[in-house]
Amino acid sequence: RTLNWNPILVEKQGFRHFMLKEIYEQPGVVRTCLEAYFNDDWTASNEQSPIKLDLPTELCADLEHIQILACGTSWHAGLVGKYLLEQLAGITTTVHYASEFRYAPPPLTAHTLTIGVTQSGETADTLAALSMEQTRRLGKSAEFKARLLGITNRPESSLGQLVSHLIDTHAGIEIGVAATKTFSAQLVAFYCLALELAYRRKSLSTKAIEKILDGLRLLPAQIEMVLESQERYIEELAHDFAETQDFIFLGRGINYPIALEGALKLKEISYIHAEGYPAGEMKHGPIALLDAKVPVVAIAMPGSLVYEKVISNAQEAKARDSRLIGVTAANEGEESDVFDQILPVPLVDELLSPIVTVIPLQLLAYHIASRRGLDVDQPRNLAKSVTVE
Ligand code: G6P
Repeated sequence: RTLNWNPILVEKQGFRHFMLKEIYEQPGVVRTCLEAYFNDDWTASNEQSPIKLDLPTELCADLEHIQILACGTSWHAGLVGKYLLEQLAGITTTVHYASEFRYAPPPLTAHTLTIGVTQSGETADTLAALSMEQTRRLGKSAEFKARLLGITNRPESSLGQLVSHLIDTHAGIEIGVAATKTFSAQLVAFYCLALELAYRRKSLSTKAIEKILDGLRLLPAQIEMVLESQERYIEELAHDFAETQDFIFLGRGINYPIALEGALKLKEISYIHAEGYPAGEMKHGPIALLDAKVPVVAIAMPGSLVYEKVISNAQEAKARDSRLIGVTAANEGEESDVFDQILPVPLVDELLSPIVTVIPLQLLAYHIASRRGLDVDQPRNLAKSVTVE
């Protein structure tokens, strides 16, 4: 008897593509990252930080401004990070495309922290922007020099050599060109960083910190739930979009970057033109594109500040005959009747929702591309790490 042994299949552990395998690795990756950074000894009264990031005081103290430099999916993680750093830690944060940063770097003060985010740790634009930041800080006081931080799953990369402090997202190497597990791990890193800074700055009550920690702990099981309940359905749904040429993704608040990420995933691997928009901006342009041939995916988390508004934006799209797909919590009221299809996610706090809302969008992009018979793991014209500027 001979065994049919194919090393690539073994590495894919039975999954058809690395991308699908990596989508399924997300509960474990999020769990590992939380385990690495949660301080289990923390109690409301023992004067320890709830998070163990090991960041020196000279990097964290008295921050007035954070600037995040990144490209592609890591840039989207940075946009979620901005929301968290501003809303939880109260620090003004700007997010820059690394490739644009050098043309107009904002004024630097001794209290500016620069964070480079890159899954590969090798993206030339991000490294160049960070080197420029390092040069800008040369010859200045020690305070300036200490405030450079990297977020990556590749601590051994060029990024690791360049910056003196790193948050390792523990996602491991990602093979699929379209980033999935490295994105959710970057989000977890931003939750931990924002909580650590919030603790140091006393910008959140102990109760508020506890609530967020409890919510984060539930995420791995909630991601698992989405994967288990959704994949078959999304695979079926993907059949309907074999000929679709344009897609619009809408989200508001902390889910606006997820609309961008959903659109990017679809573009990258299915070659369908897709745009992500903050839902409120739809009326200022994209609405002109809508008709029965342009499906709209709206992320609408019940209980969130922006829920009703996203639903009303979805209704506007429906009135233009667009097919409407809602990423929303299952069975949450009549408002969700507006959607032609629902990709249900568990009802989680708005602040934590990006880690669950992104999952069905990754699966949707994957199954549409796979249905079209495309090379999901190696899409045309793209590379896993882009080492030219
Ligand atoms: C390439 C990849 C994207 C990735 C981007 C940034 O374009 O195809 O998936 O998001 O680079 O990569 P980085 O390694 O810096 O996160």
